[in-house]
Amino acid sequence: MKKFGLKKVLAVGVACVMALSLAACGSSSSSSSSKKESTKSTGKSSGTLIVVTEPTFPPFDTTNDQGEIDGFDRDVMEAIAKDQGLKLEFKSMEFQSLVPAIQAGNADIIAAGMNAEDPERRKKVDFTDTYYDSGLVVMVKNDNNTIKSEDDLTTDMKVASQTGTTGADEANRLKDDGKIQEAVILDGFDTCILQLQNGDVDAIIIDKPVAENYMKQHEGQFKTVGKVLNAESYGFAVKKGNTKLLKKLNTGLKDIVKSGEFKKLCDKWGIDSKFDK
Ligand code: ARG
Repeated sequence: MKKFGLKKVLAVGVACVMALSLAACGSSSSSSSSKKESTKSTGKSSGTLIVVTEPTFPPFDTTNDQGEIDGFDRDVMEAIAKDQGLKLEFKSMEFQSLVPAIQAGNADIIAAGMNAEDPERRKKVDFTDTYYDSGLVVMVKNDNNTIKSEDDLTTDMKVASQTGTTGADEANRLKDDGKIQEAVILDGFDTCILQLQNGDVDAIIIDKPVAENYMKQHEGQFKTVGKVLNAESYGFAVKKGNTKLLKKLNTGLKDIVKSGEFKKLCDKWGIDSKFDK
């Protein structure tokens, strides 16, 4: 009897542990659940807007210790949402899937340090007013003494950048112009950095503030060389023709700049405010 009782207790215990771990799986496997939810779409019925990003791009787009999306873009979007009375849900996906997700109606807003001045993108989505002025740079290992600018890249060199980004366009252009051996196009900037560390590539092309953020946090590993390669400005994107949402985001952005909230978030994430200049 006693023995049976113990078994029963054990069985119940095991069942509980299983149930708990299943529940944990449910909430942590964000990729599968997010896919399901995002095809259900853009939460028009629930009133929740789906914001998508690619989070290997700190300080703009990153993840916190709990694996949740974090960063300047998220904070700015939350501040805009608060100002405009919007409800948001954040999801992550590969950078090149962001625009198609908006086009397909599987997401409402892209907040991903995205260059709003790219003519190809402007054909596919509408952008808010821009909130950050940026540009691309070449980053190499600190002890590299041969590459002092983009012009020093040669036909025996490999250059990495993230798929679907303006940096990848630049790397592909260098390859097409016969200036480098290979454009190594990778899913995330974290992987680009890893390949640079390992010496698998000679240089990476990356947004200047993201390079600077990385170098600040990992002193002595890398340096940027030469001048800034282009001028770009980040904006949030919505579905083409969604002027109602675009107007709300633009008004919210103006409001948080005026209230000083935007500047506070710039300071929190170590970003220069373009509205201070
Ligand atoms: N600014 C670049 C672009 O618009 C790179 C953005 C990458 N963003 C990201 N969240 N990974 O293409």
